[in-house]
Amino acid sequence: MRSARPVAGRGRIAPDCNSTETPMSKTRILPSISAAVVAFVWGVLTPPSVYVLRRQDIINNSSSTDYPPLPYPLPTYTPCTSSNLDNYLHTAPVNGLHIVCVSPLHLGADGMEEQLPQSNDAQEQYATINKVESLRLTFYKGSSSPPIILQEKVGGRRTTNGVDGVGAGKKGADSIDWQEMRVQFYAQLGLVPEGKLQQPWAVFTPTGERIVGDSDLVTSGDGIGSNQYIMSNIIASGMIIVTQGGNWVWPGVREGFQRNVSLSSSSGTTKSLNVTIETLSMKPLVLSIQGFLTDEECDHIAEKAAPNMQYSGVTLKDNDIGKAANNWRTSQSTFLSAKNDPILTDIEHRTASLTRVPRNHQEYVQVLRYGFTEKYDAHHDFFDPAQYQSDPNTLNLIEYGKKNRFATVFWYLTDVEDGGHTIFPRAGGLPPMMNFADCSRGLKVKPQKGKVIIFYSLDASGARDELSLHGACPVGEGNVKWAANKWVWNAPMGYITS
Ligand SMILES: *[C@@H]1O[C@H](CO)[C@@H](O)[C@H](O)[C@H]1NC(C)=O
Ligand SMILES: *[C@@H]1O[C@H](CO)[C@@H](O)[C@H](O)[C@H]1NC(C)=O
Repeated sequence: MRSARPVAGRGRIAPDCNSTETPMSKTRILPSISAAVVAFVWGVLTPPSVYVLRRQDIINNSSSTDYPPLPYPLPTYTPCTSSNLDNYLHTAPVNGLHIVCVSPLHLGADGMEEQLPQSNDAQEQYATINKVESLRLTFYKGSSSPPIILQEKVGGRRTTNGVDGVGAGKKGADSIDWQEMRVQFYAQLGLVPEGKLQQPWAVFTPTGERIVGDSDLVTSGDGIGSNQYIMSNIIASGMIIVTQGGNWVWPGVREGFQRNVSLSSSSGTTKSLNVTIETLSMKPLVLSIQGFLTDEECDHIAEKAAPNMQYSGVTLKDNDIGKAANNWRTSQSTFLSAKNDPILTDIEHRTASLTRVPRNHQEYVQVLRYGFTEKYDAHHDFFDPAQYQSDPNTLNLIEYGKKNRFATVFWYLTDVEDGGHTIFPRAGGLPPMMNFADCSRGLKVKPQKGKVIIFYSLDASGARDELSLHGACPVGEGNVKWAANKWVWNAPMGYITS
């Protein structure tokens, strides 16, 4: 059993406290950039069929067009074309979010380096994975331009200076060593390793499927988790995304940006669902998804919660001990378990698919009811350890700050005609506020039945985002607002296990 039930932390901002604006160092262009560009263009212009045939003659003179399938599916190939990059690059660097483009290479019979073909054709992918000897990596640090192009190759049987690489004597994807590639990631992206307050960084496909985390144990053999698996996935994906915080964050790109995403449910009862994720705010990152819940699902949650609703508590910060929660929060709430509830179980899986963060990072859903004039003053959902020094239960729960609430998926269960907006009073970088009940500034999101918003309490680097301050504005006369908080942590928490 958990020692403390996490409830919303009440936020008060120290005016000089801003952990989010960590300065980024400027991207660097290596001296060898022009050589890399020349090689890249040369590789692109080389007709793939020519060296495919030549290479097959060298390594395999039997039925050389048949490569056995791998024991796991490969990700969809996302070439680093400018239109694809437009869906991931930002005009200003994003702390902890990086894009890396991966081009597989090998030495042709003439001793010249050639780019191997990448596509979604399975046989072509297997062929590339079997022939690759080195990679050209292009790093977009902070997911912004200009890129750093790494001329020195990672792994491979031969490197550009003619020395055998770490994978010497090995074939295909296994000739590139993930451990060696990691070193380049550290050097080029300025990554920091897992620490007492830092989760390990991780690598994802552009649609948020996790490939490997920095602290993952690499298994032997060629199954899931092996070097062969990691490198095959990285090569097949073409573009990969690295987050310093180790959890997937949808790149916001810009206000108003829309991204279509396929959601799955592993509970077996729902079909897949395609949704559009729209960026409402970059700082803090707030995303909106219409039609995430059906009307029947919304009604089911509110009806199930209704008998247990109670006026809400908050986790009191040191300075607030002795004060009543209704100083700030006048809504009712209750936590609901999804156990034996296929509808709720399904929505939890869908929420995991939407965030690309596993379900075991979630808390039980907290259902909320706000009647006329009821509200919740602006606060943060994360726990700042500095403000809980006299609360050992909270400090243990958050491991002094390594663990924290990462994202909130906020479900709107009813339409509200008047009031009841969710407010982000610091959206766009507005300064700290003195009156946390002020509903006149920042981003206001209108409740709409079935819509959800995602907002990130931690940024892509894992740092607490002070700008994620948010509140619930008072509900107008004759209206009732039903909603729910699905808090997603940056690590598995054990509240929900399956
Ligand atoms: C998303 O899908 C909708 C409906 O299929 C389509 O109309 C829209 O153009 C798509 N948007 C993007 C950004 O691909
Ligand atoms: C979702 O979109 C994918 C293609 O992007 C399509 O194959 C699938 O059928 C769609 N699913 C639904 C439920 O519309």
